Amino acid sequence: MLAGKRILLIIGGGIAAFKALELIRRLRERGAAVTPVLTRAGAEFVTPLSVSALAGRKVYQDLFDLTDEAEMGHIELSRSADLVVVAPATADLMAKMAQGLADDLAATLLLATDTPVLIAPAMNVRMWQHPATQRNLATLAGDGIRRVGPGAGDMACGEHGPGRMAEPAEIIAAVEAALAGGPLRGRRIVVTSGPTHEPIDPVRYIANRSSGAQGAAIARALAARGAEVVFVTGPATAPPPEGAEVIPVETAREMLAAVEGALPADAAIFAAAVADWHVADAAQNKLKKTQGGMPALHFAENPDILATISGLQNGRPPLVVGFAAETEDVVAHATAKRARKGCDWILANDVSAESGIMGGAENRITLISEGGAEDWPRMSKDAVAARLADRVAEALDQA
Ligand code: CTP
Repeated sequence: MLAGKRILLIIGGGIAAFKALELIRRLRERGAAVTPVLTRAGAEFVTPLSVSALAGRKVYQDLFDLTDEAEMGHIELSRSADLVVVAPATADLMAKMAQGLADDLAATLLLATDTPVLIAPAMNVRMWQHPATQRNLATLAGDGIRRVGPGAGDMACGEHGPGRMAEPAEIIAAVEAALAGGPLRGRRIVVTSGPTHEPIDPVRYIANRSSGAQGAAIARALAARGAEVVFVTGPATAPPPEGAEVIPVETAREMLAAVEGALPADAAIFAAAVADWHVADAAQNKLKKTQGGMPALHFAENPDILATISGLQNGRPPLVVGFAAETEDVVAHATAKRARKGCDWILANDVSAESGIMGGAENRITLISEGGAEDWPRMSKDAVAARLADRVAEALDQA
C-alpha cells in the first residue's frame, strides 16, 4: 500500500502517455497522492484536463507560470514528494536528465529534486538501442536513478523489440519497492529463474523440471528488503513474485539478451535452470512422422549466461551469484563450477531424484565463496531466499 505517499509524476511525450492515466488511477487507489507534471510533448498525447481530473489536483506544465511560482515554486515542487516518477521517460527526457539540462519544467524539477527518481522508459526500439541512449542510461544508473522496463513486444510504431513502457502494475511494483525501507533500498538486482524452453519445431520443445519456485522466492525476499528487482523468467509453473519487474522469456538466448538489457545492476543472481543446448536447426513447421523413423536433432551450445555476465569487462555487477545443480560430489563440482564460471558465490544444491529438491518446497544449500564452503541446514525455499537476501545486503554494504 502507498497510503500517504506523495508521488510527483512527470508525463513525457510518447504514445505510452495514455498508460500514465491508468497509473495515476492505480496509485490513488493505493492511497498515494499524485501531483502531475505534463511536458509540452506529453500534452500532445494526453490532455491536461484528463490528467488533473484523474489526479484530483492541478497539473503543472510551465516553468514560467507565475501563479504556480506564487503558489509553489519549482524547487519546492521538486522536493515535495517521496518519489519522482517519470512515465513515459522519453529518449529526450533521459538525455536531458543525463546532461543535467533544465530548459523546461520537467527537466528543472528533475535537476532540482533531492528525492529518489524512478523512470519508466518508452521509445522506439532503435532509439532505445542507440549507443547515445545506452550511454545516457548508464549515466543515469550511476546517478542512482531507478528504472522499470522497458519491456519487449510489438510497439505502436509497428516495430518489435525492447522499448515498450512497463505496464502500470509493474510501475506500481517498482514504486512500492522504491518506497520500501530495508537494507537493499536503492539496489538494483537481476534474478533469472525457471526452466528454458528450446524449440524443436513450433509445437515441441526441450525443457527441464525446474518450477521456478526458488528464483521467485529469492526475488520476493530481495524486493521485501527494498531492492529494485528485475526478474527474468523462463516458462515456470511457480507464480512470479510480486514487487518485481517480470521479464518473461522462452529460450536461453532470449534470457541472456534480457539480462544484458537489465544491466547495470548491483547484483545478479542466476537461479534459472538454463538448457545447455538448443536445437540448431529447429523446424519452421511441425515435424511430421516419416517412413525413415525419428528425425535426428542437431544441437548447438547455448550461451552460458552466468559465465558471460561474470566475465564482463565493463558493467559486471559487483556481486554475481550462481547456483550449481548437482547429483553427485556436490561441493567438489560446485567449487570447480565457481572457478570455471568466474562468479563470486555458488549456491550448490543436490538435485538427485532422492533429494526431492527439484520441484519440491525445500532446499539444502552449500554456499561456496572465496572463503570456502559453508553448509546451510535443509530449509524451505523461502528460508533459503531470506538467508541469501540478507547475505547479499551484507556483501553490498561492505563493497
Ligand atoms: N547457467 C547459465 N547459463 C547456462 C547454463 C547455466 O546462466 N547456459 C547458470 C545457472 O543459472 C546456474 C549455473 O549456471 O546459476 C550453473 O548451472 P548448472 O546447470 O548447475 O551448470 P551447467 O553450466 O549446466 O554445468 P554442468 O552441466 O557441468 O553441471
